[in-house]
Amino acid sequence: MRTLLGDLLASRLSQTPSGTLNKRLYDVLQCAIQDGSIAPGSRLPASRDLAKDLSVSRNTVLAAYEQLQSEGYLQTRAGSGTFVCEVLPESVPDAEVAPATALRPFNFVRLSTRGSRLLMRSGAGPHQWGAFMPGVPDVSHMPHDIWRKIHLKLSRRMPVEALSYSSHGGCLQLQQALAEYLRVIRSVNCTPEQILVTAGTHQALDLLAKMLCDPGDRAWIEEPGYWGIRNVLAVNGIELQPLPVDDEGLMLADFNADARPPRLICVTPSHQYPLGSVMSLQRRHQLLDLARQAGSWVIEDDYDGEFRFADSPIPALQGLAPDAPVIYLGTFSKTLYPGLRLSYMVVPKPLAARMKMAHSELYRGGNGLVQLTLAEFIREGHYAAHVRKMRQLYSRRRAELVRVIRDTLGEGFIAQQSNAGLHLVLSLPADIDDVALSAELEQNGVLTRPLSAYYLLGNARRGLLLGYACVEEHEMAEKFAPVLACLRRRLPG
Ligand SMILES: Cc1ncc(COP(=O)(O)O)c(C=O)c1O
Repeated sequence: MRTLLGDLLASRLSQTPSGTLNKRLYDVLQCAIQDGSIAPGSRLPASRDLAKDLSVSRNTVLAAYEQLQSEGYLQTRAGSGTFVCEVLPESVPDAEVAPATALRPFNFVRLSTRGSRLLMRSGAGPHQWGAFMPGVPDVSHMPHDIWRKIHLKLSRRMPVEALSYSSHGGCLQLQQALAEYLRVIRSVNCTPEQILVTAGTHQALDLLAKMLCDPGDRAWIEEPGYWGIRNVLAVNGIELQPLPVDDEGLMLADFNADARPPRLICVTPSHQYPLGSVMSLQRRHQLLDLARQAGSWVIEDDYDGEFRFADSPIPALQGLAPDAPVIYLGTFSKTLYPGLRLSYMVVPKPLAARMKMAHSELYRGGNGLVQLTLAEFIREGHYAAHVRKMRQLYSRRRAELVRVIRDTLGEGFIAQQSNAGLHLVLSLPADIDDVALSAELEQNGVLTRPLSAYYLLGNARRGLLLGYACVEEHEMAEKFAPVLACLRRRLPG
């Protein structure tokens, strides 16, 4: 059977008809390395295997490998094989200015302006786990044994509909379990038919942007705010208007001033991301009044509402008033694990059927068995028990990190005391370059995020987001030591 790489190269060879076979194979391999189809550091098949895959002579492959090696694209390691070099001799030119070339079709990949801008602003890093990665739960505590048992039980009597495309916005059982859970735990006002299951908050937002906004429409977003929301909206042609947050949440602007009301108002009212404030009741009422007047949709991103450690959970904005113009977004990324890619939105009844249809049209829903497993996991009480357990664990980890920071740096370095969520903000003096600090820490294997990166406009506060969720209490001080060392080198005296 042909390998994936064999398929790729064979297809490209067939599209590069002119020139000798040796030259064509060399071109195709070089292009695949340059455009990243064959990643730096990856091992190439043995010449004999690739020759067989492509139905060419082994000498043809050897000639291509040798030339690429002499040009610095490949290296051989004795006894291990042929590898793509980690650093390539020339990089792909800027996507926005790269010319389309008919002669070497894969040499330069020209992205759309929209695509290039998305990548320029991208926030997703290659490492997503470990001390002090913000926004990531301790995935090692997932009760896989219970999950597996339910999964196995259900897989024995799977209804055939659960194995096909879903056009109902998710499995009914999950919608029912979620509606019940959200009503009781988050005071969300909803019936199962209002729930649409999505593959992550980004997908939910992408759907909302496409279905509720036209390019050029405006969205109010929090400043600072989550980069993911900004990117999904921007790639859909939505104009972003960042508004500052204070201790009461988003500071509302006067939309009459420029006669351009926002189509969307995106907020994290239960726990402002990343600073941590809770939107006051007065601000919530003001926001709903304003949204009604302006004809805007409030997007409530309740990404970690379950994790409040001292006081009781803050009820969702969505449930504050009947028929509130709010679309509620929730996710299992923080309560279970992000790789599950399961989230949901609660949409007002008049929108529900059309949003489900659009979801099916754009993304083709599915994953029935996983959704049924999750429904049962919630119904049997395992979900609530897991969240309770993790809340206690995170509360202790947070307290320990606060203690370590207080003891080593002092109270002034703790930006907020929201006592919630999976991260806290280490506040830094304005003259410290938090981007450089975070980059230096990453080199030392410590993952943080610079606070200034969460601002779109100037005047950013400096700080580091420290995720404590996956750092055990007894290792907190040790894991914090490199942060302290790098920071002390930058602090006066
Ligand atoms: C504020 C906020 N909202 C949403 C998300 C994304 O959630 P999901 O994994 O469901 O896409 C994140 C992820 O870090 C987040 O920080």
